[in-house]
Amino acid sequence: MKLFDVYPLFNITPERAQGSWLWDDKGEKYLDLYGGHAVISIGHSHSHYVKSLNDQLGKIAFYSNSVQNPIQEKLADKLGQLSGYPEYQLFLCNSGAEANENALKLASFITGRKKVIAFKKAFHGRTSGAVAATDNPKIVAPFNAGHDIAFVPMNDEAAFNEVLDDTIAAVIIEGIQGVGGIQLPSDSFLQFLEKKCKENGSVFILDEIQCGYGRTGKFFAHQHAGVKPHLITTAKGMGNGFPIGGVLIHPDIKPWSGMLGTTFGGNYLASVAGLAVLEVMEKENLIHNAAVQGDYWIAALKKYPSLKDVRGRGLMIGFDLPEEKKSVRNDLLQKHKIFTGEAKPNTIRLLPSLALTKEEADLFLTALTEELK
Ligand SMILES: Cc1ncc(COP(=O)(O)O)c(C=O)c1O
Repeated sequence: MKLFDVYPLFNITPERAQGSWLWDDKGEKYLDLYGGHAVISIGHSHSHYVKSLNDQLGKIAFYSNSVQNPIQEKLADKLGQLSGYPEYQLFLCNSGAEANENALKLASFITGRKKVIAFKKAFHGRTSGAVAATDNPKIVAPFNAGHDIAFVPMNDEAAFNEVLDDTIAAVIIEGIQGVGGIQLPSDSFLQFLEKKCKENGSVFILDEIQCGYGRTGKFFAHQHAGVKPHLITTAKGMGNGFPIGGVLIHPDIKPWSGMLGTTFGGNYLASVAGLAVLEVMEKENLIHNAAVQGDYWIAALKKYPSLKDVRGRGLMIGFDLPEEKKSVRNDLLQKHKIFTGEAKPNTIRLLPSLALTKEEADLFLTALTEELK
């Protein structure tokens, strides 16, 4: 059977990885500054993470959500403590799209409404509800388009006010737009949305799937603005490669039996992976490291006269290449063996492990200097 050919692939076959580094089947070494779409949070193959997963695999890998699972509870406690949301409730699922799907569903349950406000260029995943909240026609099928979504430019209060009415169940926004090219909602815009949602009885959803889990130097990106959403969705860095997603749910939102559900969500292996990630983040002070290395990198990148609009927070950074230097991302990979991300047409995205060192950040700067000459 052939694989369904939907992914443009690099001609590279990684065989093993450690920290911020990958090795391919030819023994070539690569610096990973992308973490496979911001997934690698604590570094590849961290010893505590590997041991925790191996130990659990030898005991029990899976049973359904019909029995007690103390590891889920430990994970929820640790997540509450580190994120500053100890009073919230946690629903565990398997991916980012699923987390957003469940958040939108919750919002509709609570309000009895159907409509959603989302933002232009945002990306929330590929399930039916989540993908409908994305305004990229290439990835929205007719089946998805039945959802009633109003798209508004980010940071545009007047445009938002025009579509807000008492039919709006939810407003969903990324703490920082990732796939949309590292675009930041301003702190005041997030505060405005929080206030408007409260006044209007709409549910305020923060998609922290790419920008959360310590990446911006706070546990969640929206915490820079001091807002408190009703629902926060997370995935990617939460499992450092093990598929896991979650929705953090405001304490006023009451569950009923069967309201949400999943077979695999929160299984033993996923929960152990999630717990190990948080333990490493805490022990190694990785959120602080993300802030320090991020400030260093952003300041250094701002000194390159040819780079436009260096932006981001912590280790979620984007910048635009000059038109004639569009090949830089490919050259960084082919010549310097450095993985980075992109956003169309010419933005480089940096989303490395939160354990990135200054030496690793400098390797990138040296390679970039050479390519921009
Ligand atoms: C902000 C955001 N939300 C949701 C998703 C979807 O996550 P997943 O691919 O795990 O379904 C992504 C994936 O890139 C994302 O960046």
